Amino acid sequence: MNPIDIDQVNQQISSCRLCPLFLERKLAVPGCGPASAEIMLIGEAPGKEEDLTGKPFVGRAGRLLDAALEQAGLERSKVFITSVIKCRPPQNRKPKKSEIDQCRRYLDSQIEIVHPKIICLMGNTAVQAVLGMQGIAQLRGRVLQNRYLVTFHPAAVLRNRNHMDDFVSDLKILNAGSQ
Ligand code: URA
Repeated sequence: MNPIDIDQVNQQISSCRLCPLFLERKLAVPGCGPASAEIMLIGEAPGKEEDLTGKPFVGRAGRLLDAALEQAGLERSKVFITSVIKCRPPQNRKPKKSEIDQCRRYLDSQIEIVHPKIICLMGNTAVQAVLGMQGIAQLRGRVLQNRYLVTFHPAAVLRNRNHMDDFVSDLKILNAGSQ
């Protein structure tokens, strides 16, 4: 038995004051999806719409992610989606190392409790935080340590639509890896 369950982790995140980002957030964004999900997707940090709703990937990047998941034959409702940090950085700046370090315990708990078969690291912040590696261009489309699939962050695909085909094909690997 796990000492705590996913709802308890999500509650801890919602009332977290470990770093100064709590001062400016409307809502923390713990993540969502079934605690029994075989697939976990990890992004960078909530944006404006996520901060207002408390839900991950509901803004423009989220809509692109939804479209890519559908093209890859994945149902969003079966996937656990979260981000490296759970509160919006002002002006959507990159998360600071200190914020990532403080927030890390929550991501670790989520990974431990959900225990997904395969974890998709979307973008450099997730790859750096979880694997301590950098370089999406070289790493994307590869499954590392038999568990981590690296791909673009959906916001990067929004900025460069030429990445959409690769993004969808990476998510197909994820789909196959979860079987
Ligand atoms: N980008 C992220 O990394 N996470 C979100 O929840 C939204 C946008």
